[in-house]
Amino acid sequence: MQKLLEEIATTAATNPDKGRVATYIPELAGTDPNQFGIAAAMADGRVFSAGDADVPFSIQSVSKVFALALALGRVGDAMWTRVGREPSGLSFDSVLLLERENGIPRNPFINAGALVTTDTYLAGSSPREALGELLRFIRAAADDDGIHINEKVARSELATAHRNYSLAHYLASFGNMQASIDKVLGTYCHQCGVEMTCRQLAMAGRFLVDGDKMPALVSAERRRRINALMMTCGHYDGSGDFAFRVGMPGKSGVGGGILVVSPGRASIAVWSPGLNPYGNSKLGTEAMEAFARKTGWSVF
Ligand code: DON
Repeated sequence: MQKLLEEIATTAATNPDKGRVATYIPELAGTDPNQFGIAAAMADGRVFSAGDADVPFSIQSVSKVFALALALGRVGDAMWTRVGREPSGLSFDSVLLLERENGIPRNPFINAGALVTTDTYLAGSSPREALGELLRFIRAAADDDGIHINEKVARSELATAHRNYSLAHYLASFGNMQASIDKVLGTYCHQCGVEMTCRQLAMAGRFLVDGDKMPALVSAERRRRINALMMTCGHYDGSGDFAFRVGMPGKSGVGGGILVVSPGRASIAVWSPGLNPYGNSKLGTEAMEAFARKTGWSVF
């Protein structure tokens, strides 16, 4: 495994086409695209890594996996009265289907759906308490108390979050927001601002891998369902492409991170800030495609 990760990191370093760094969150716009890291936390407890696996990055939408786990922990299957379980075929921040589908977002991994899961785990708490709960969950999963939120990134996103505000107002107009929109947006932007290294993210993803040595933070049934949603909806309108090329559940973020689960085997995190046209890490996706081919770990 160590040799494979090193080969993948070398291939990435020599690829001249790194993709394009997201610029709509000002604080992330200056990130150096020439960075690539990968780490694998195995079900037997071993951890392997290569490249810039110890450089912290903004996990952004990868946080939607942890938010969903918390929201399901709060309300269980009642979650599915407020958000669907189908891929949207549209970009992560699209407002298009909300009108036609009466304010029920297609799935918990597009922005509209994640605003609903954030609203769900925020219910009855202050944003500070809710974010504390989120960090406790992530730290327990990763067995690492050093994981934190980058306040500058969170504030930078909040200051330019017009699209997410409009999604939240739209949801509210259908009665699908409980807390105040300012509280939901503040919590959501801080959740997206969680910072982790590939090694920490691979460790945190272990709660989605079945195995005696893995942190048991959710039930086996819930783990299976979260993995199913990552497979079908984890890469927005690029979800089919990721399933086709990689064949493992994965969740991407606009910071360039991807969390991938190989059921029963490992949690893998890859990061490279340049994105493909879907808004998913370009080199990260290519790396996972090579990883899946070499390991034969596609679930198909
Ligand atoms: O809400 C946003 O726009 C960002 N905080 C997260 C979007 C994201 O990561 C989409 N990922 N590919």
